[in-house]
Amino acid sequence: MSSAVVEVRHLTKRFGEFTAVDGISFDIRRGEILGLLGPNGAGKTTTLQMMLGLVTPTSGSIHMFGLDLQRHRGAILQQVNFSSTYMSMPYALTVEENLSIIGRLYGLSDIPRRIDDMVKKLEMAEWRHTLTRKLSSGQMTRLTLAKALLTEPKILFLDEPTASLDPDIANKIRTILLEERRASGLSILYTSHNMREMETMSDRIIFLQRGKIVAEGTAQDIVARFGQEDLEDVFLKLAREQ
Ligand SMILES: Nc1ncnc2c1ncn2[C@@H]1O[C@H](COP(=O)(O)OP(=O)(O)O)[C@@H](O)[C@H]1O
Ligand SMILES: [Mg+2]
Repeated sequence: MSSAVVEVRHLTKRFGEFTAVDGISFDIRRGEILGLLGPNGAGKTTTLQMMLGLVTPTSGSIHMFGLDLQRHRGAILQQVNFSSTYMSMPYALTVEENLSIIGRLYGLSDIPRRIDDMVKKLEMAEWRHTLTRKLSSGQMTRLTLAKALLTEPKILFLDEPTASLDPDIANKIRTILLEERRASGLSILYTSHNMREMETMSDRIIFLQRGKIVAEGTAQDIVARFGQEDLEDVFLKLAREQ
C-alpha cells in the first residue's frame, strides 16, 4: 500500500471557457511538506479550494486517506484543516471565543487545554481576549493558523500562510509547522511567494503555470533541471515565459 494520504488525479477546473486548473496529478505522503509554487493566477488557490471541497472540480478526482472527497467529504474534513492569509474569522467574538467555537464545531475534547497550547505556541496571550475585529492582519493570520492546528489535523492546507507576517513571526510559524510534522506526521500542502521559505520548508515542490504542472521535485532538482542559480531564477524564467 502506498503511504500517500492525498491522491489527486487529472484534476481540472473550468470557469466557463477558462481553464484555471488543467489536468494536474500529484500525491502527498504522510508527513510530507509539499510546496505549490507559481505566478499569480496559476491556479494554486483554486487547487486548494478543490482539496477542501469548496470548489467542485470539473473533472478528475481527489482521494484522501483512500476515500473519495466527493463521497466522503464530512469524514475527510474532520481530519483536515486550512488557513490562509486572506481569510478572517467572526469579528464580533474574541480570539478565545472563536477558537472555542471551532473546538465545539469539531466536537473536540479538552478545548481549554488546546486553546492554552495554541495561545502559548503562537504567542497570542496579549490579545487572547481582544475582539477579532481589532486584530492586525498578522494577528488574524496567527489566529487562523491556531484555528487550523487546534483540531490536530492530519493534513493541513495553507494558502500563503506567512504572507502578512514579519520575518520573526514567519520564522516561528515555520518552526511550529516543522515541529508538528515531526511530532504527529502532519502532511502539509502550502503556497508561498517566498522562495527561501519554499526551499527550506518543502520536501517537494510542484510548479504550476497556467493551471498545469511544469516542474516537480525537490528545490535542488528543479533548480538543476532549469539550469538556474536558485528557485527565484527558475520562477522568474517560467513566469516571464507566460
Ligand atoms: N470563481 C471564479 N470565476 C472565474 N475565474 C476564476 C474564479 N476563481 C479563480 N478564477 C481564475 O482562475 C485563475 C486561477 O486563480 P487562482 O487559483 O486564484 O490563482 P493563484 O492562487 O495561483 O493566484 C485566475 O485567472 C482567476 O482569475
Ligand atoms: Mg492564490
